[in-house]
Amino acid sequence: MCGIVGYIGGGSSGAKRIITDGLKRLEYRGYDSAGIALAADGGLIVEKSVGRIANLEKILNASSADSHAGIGHTRWATHGEPSDANAHPHTNADGSIAIVHNGIIENYIELKKWLTTEHGISFRSETDSEVAAHMIGLFYEGDLLDAVNKTVKKMRGAYAICAMAAAEPDKIVAVRKDAPLIAGIGENCNFLASDIPALLKYARMIYLIENNETVLVTRNDITIFNEAGKPVKRDVFHVTWDADAAEKGGYDHFMRKEIFEQPAGIAETLNRRLDENGEIKLDGISLTKQELDRIERIYIVACGTASHAGLVGKFAIEKFARIPAETDIASEFRYREPYIDDKTLVICISQSGETLDTLAALREAKSKGARVLSVVNVVGSSVARESDDVFYTWAGPEIAVASTKAFTTQLICMYLLALYMGRTRGILPDNEYKRVLSELGEMPDKLTKLLEDEPKIQNIAKKIYKNERIFFIGRGVDVSVALEGSLKLKEISYIHSFAIAAGELKHGTIALIDRDSLVVALASQDRLFEKLLSNIEEVKARGAYVIMLAKTGAGGMDKRADDVILIPACADDVTPILAVVPLQLLAYHVAKLRGCDIDKPKNLAKSVTVE
Ligand code: G6P
Repeated sequence: MCGIVGYIGGGSSGAKRIITDGLKRLEYRGYDSAGIALAADGGLIVEKSVGRIANLEKILNASSADSHAGIGHTRWATHGEPSDANAHPHTNADGSIAIVHNGIIENYIELKKWLTTEHGISFRSETDSEVAAHMIGLFYEGDLLDAVNKTVKKMRGAYAICAMAAAEPDKIVAVRKDAPLIAGIGENCNFLASDIPALLKYARMIYLIENNETVLVTRNDITIFNEAGKPVKRDVFHVTWDADAAEKGGYDHFMRKEIFEQPAGIAETLNRRLDENGEIKLDGISLTKQELDRIERIYIVACGTASHAGLVGKFAIEKFARIPAETDIASEFRYREPYIDDKTLVICISQSGETLDTLAALREAKSKGARVLSVVNVVGSSVARESDDVFYTWAGPEIAVASTKAFTTQLICMYLLALYMGRTRGILPDNEYKRVLSELGEMPDKLTKLLEDEPKIQNIAKKIYKNERIFFIGRGVDVSVALEGSLKLKEISYIHSFAIAAGELKHGTIALIDRDSLVVALASQDRLFEKLLSNIEEVKARGAYVIMLAKTGAGGMDKRADDVILIPACADDVTPILAVVPLQLLAYHVAKLRGCDIDKPKNLAKSVTVE
């Protein structure tokens, strides 16, 4: 979603290049237009353009204007279509104040009415954000910090806003409520940004700005104020991510790079949680036998790909820990009045840790007395900070919108949690605990081997990429993988795909199966293999082309499918970690053959910070 970059340094130039560079690193969040405001010649120069940052760069390159300070933005439209006029920055009437905004100002209609009728202000865009520029302009009496504080008091919603005033070119003021914002310490310069990748090249020391805080940034200082306007002390957070981790490193796309990073990500996530005897250690997470015995139900709450990891998590928790578990879509959970009490454990799963619905569900759960444990990739993100316990995935930065390595590392976390819970509760026999743990330990090598089959998947992609309707079916834990495979395909190739439990096919969906249908049948479960074969017969009888995914060995040799994708042999319980990978590769190669913008699919955002 929208991305923000602010920079303030010395001299009279540099801001243009540094801000556009930062914006490019936020491209992965998803956007449809971009813009920049620079403090120059006693005023503010604003340039913006619909489309890619390259369009903005063309405009910027044609002008000699530059500055020591500025704010930039990538917009993902919520109010008003993508257009030059709706792109940020927005300014007040005389152009003396410029703002960029990420989030939604919920009471903007009321504020717009007030600004129009009482102050005669006319609006130039259809955005909610423009009200912030006019309000800051209205309250401005030579002190930007004060004007921003007064503005914020009138606004409701979720926002991260950065503001500049022509009369104070050596300041940027920013404020945060429910939208990500960090401040970075550079050398003789300082930064603001929506997230870490924007700054990786320039700043390794950052401050995580908390909700309802305002931050005043000058070239030499970053001062954070709480809601009452009092300065607060914040520890510096040292970013350990390698600057190259957010680069493509020779790959065509971040998505393919991230698919191939999975063996390493899984190994790292496992190793961080195993002690020298190979036992699961949950340092920093408090799950004693007493605490676990108190828990009567678990809700796993997440959005998108993370919710599919949650489905596997439900299966693992119920199987290994024998605690009733439900997986909920965060946007539904928060509004459906779920039964929550102090015997409830909520597990939130989120790659970014900034997904607004997941964050809201977390708050709802906490307010009702539940304990919240989160599985998060981005260290220090909002979900991580607001949870009682955090189980980090160590996938490294995930840039492609389509999530891959975050998913498989989330699976590892969920298996480890389930095994740990079962063991601690005294429910899971020792040999069973050791068996599954040893299966997990074999995953990095098996995945590496599986990735060598990419050319085979590429060949299948060549046969199917023109297909416009693809169905994914499976049974047991394969249903979760089917959902994830289908999501991967639709999000990057725009093919209409649909996933369903194979046993449900004949209750409606089979009506859609004909000679033009393609069915990807997940048959990784030994104990359900025969049943899945019957479902394959059913769709074949109606003319469908079938690609079967099965384990190497007996099941995989079946000849009923038109194409077979094999994964290394492993126990039924852990197949999702392997089975999803060929589906990621299939989606990738199909999308590539269709000429799609793989890392930045249309209409999608990496980090969804609005409802
Ligand atoms: C967006 C992304 C997905 C992601 C989902 C949840 O839709 O495009 O890849 O799965 O948000 O994001 P989270 O950061 O909470 O895992």
